[in-house]
Amino acid sequence: MERTYVMVKPDGVARGLMGEVLGRIEKKGLKIVGMKFAVMEEAKAKEHYAEHAERPFFAGLVEFITSAPSLSLVVEGNDSIKIMRAINGATKPAEAAPGTIRGDFAVDTGRNLVHASDSTEAAEREIKIHFGDAALLTYKRCDDDCLYE
Ligand code: GTP
Ligand code: MG
Repeated sequence: MERTYVMVKPDGVARGLMGEVLGRIEKKGLKIVGMKFAVMEEAKAKEHYAEHAERPFFAGLVEFITSAPSLSLVVEGNDSIKIMRAINGATKPAEAAPGTIRGDFAVDTGRNLVHASDSTEAAEREIKIHFGDAALLTYKRCDDDCLYE
């Protein structure tokens, strides 16, 4: 089953939106198999956002992501990478459709509440950065049998 890394960023935590995000993931039918609530270490934030290292917003992004608690998740399900990107909505909240997290709750690109891996390679890399070799959970949801044909 495909896995992806999802984060409720510090703005989402500060605005009391962890439950909203978790609820959308759970109600969609995706399974949360890893969860960590912590202030992200600077080294991990820099590694996580390494692809943006040369961008002008990089320093501010790392500073923000490490400034307060964020919620790290591993989310499992068929097509979970694509589905989580769709649930989050476009990076720029002005372009994010209503019904998406960013479309419903965010205004500014630098405070767009959530993150989700954008490819299989990114998901593998990001799960490793944030969860290392920590065991992810295996359990049954009572709707497992009716979610897939
Ligand atoms: P993530 O899921 O957070 O990776 O967002 P994304 O994949 O939709 O966007 P991208 O990877 O291109 O950018 C990563 C993050 O950097 C975004 O979510 C924003 O928080 C931030 N970011 C991207 N572009 C800008 C920008 O032009 N200005 C600012 N301030 N932040 C930006
Ligand atoms: Mg990204």
